[in-house]
Amino acid sequence: MNKRVGVIMGGPSAEREVSLRTGQGVLAALLSRGYDAVGIDWTGAAHDLWAALRQERVEVAFIALHGTFGEDGCVQGLLECCAIPYTGSGVLASALAMDKVYSRRIFDQEGIESPRWCTYRGAADVARIGLPLVVKPAREGSSVGVSIVHSEAELPAALERAGSLHGPVLLEEYVRGREIQVAVLDGEALGEVEVRPATEFYDYEAKYLRNDTQYLVPAPLTDAERHLVLDLARRAHRALGCHGATRTDLILTPSGRAVCLEVNTLPGLTEKSLLPKIAAARGIDYATLIERILATASLKT
Ligand SMILES: Nc1ncnc2c1ncn2[C@@H]1O[C@H](COP(=O)(O)OP(=O)(O)O)[C@@H](O)[C@H]1O
Ligand SMILES: [Mg+2]
Repeated sequence: MNKRVGVIMGGPSAEREVSLRTGQGVLAALLSRGYDAVGIDWTGAAHDLWAALRQERVEVAFIALHGTFGEDGCVQGLLECCAIPYTGSGVLASALAMDKVYSRRIFDQEGIESPRWCTYRGAADVARIGLPLVVKPAREGSSVGVSIVHSEAELPAALERAGSLHGPVLLEEYVRGREIQVAVLDGEALGEVEVRPATEFYDYEAKYLRNDTQYLVPAPLTDAERHLVLDLARRAHRALGCHGATRTDLILTPSGRAVCLEVNTLPGLTEKSLLPKIAAARGIDYATLIERILATASLKT
């Protein structure tokens, strides 16, 4: 409580703007609860961040970054080297969760159901997965580069879109069903939201640009369905070795199959973000949630 907290926000990734909003929200919440907190707007090179942490005499870091460097283990590694405890997942879990190929390998091994998948090398892979299928880059977020391919004719453009981004290209079985996201805090599932996009899937537009995406908290689920999705998220969080707060994206099929798409290790934390909405439905107000996440700060190596 009496340690100086640095809220690291901004960063060089494509999600810089969202991160600044998360960071401002977190900082305001910590100040309102009497913490000695300071915002650190990281604008670029790694040594700038290190210099700012030293200058501000930061003793604990609240990571409010998203995407490249912030979410993939890089900043976590820098904080480990500086012996500054930080919120969220460690180096390995962050890197694994950010990479859909490596996280899928762990899911397969741990019996966590995810869509049938392979990395794209040629036409035989397309035949193996079958149409419709989903094409996505291994290391992106915000649905950037994700396409649903219904016919052979749509394939080249989808492969090019995903191929121009970070990491190899994945092909996945298209899973039809309801889109559910589950919040996990410190190993405990807090609850879930159902996302109903007005677009064909929960794409970048539906996430950030449109106002006709519906969010239902809690999701209208039967007890058995809720148990299934919360359990899947808890197991996925644990399988990757995550810490602190995560948000798992999954699909619940009409036949009652829960299929894990990914675990987000630094979910959005503006007051309007999904994880705070889920927490609020559990009676955990925004500032209390932020305090609880801060309380999980640690060194993991
Ligand atoms: N295999 C799939 N079947 C059906 N829809 C999918 C599938 N994979 C992704 N989607 C859709 O694309 C969105 C983004 O995919 P996701 O794997 O969560 O990547 P991102 O890291 O970009 O959020 C999902 O929220 C969902 O709407
Ligand atoms: Mg997602």
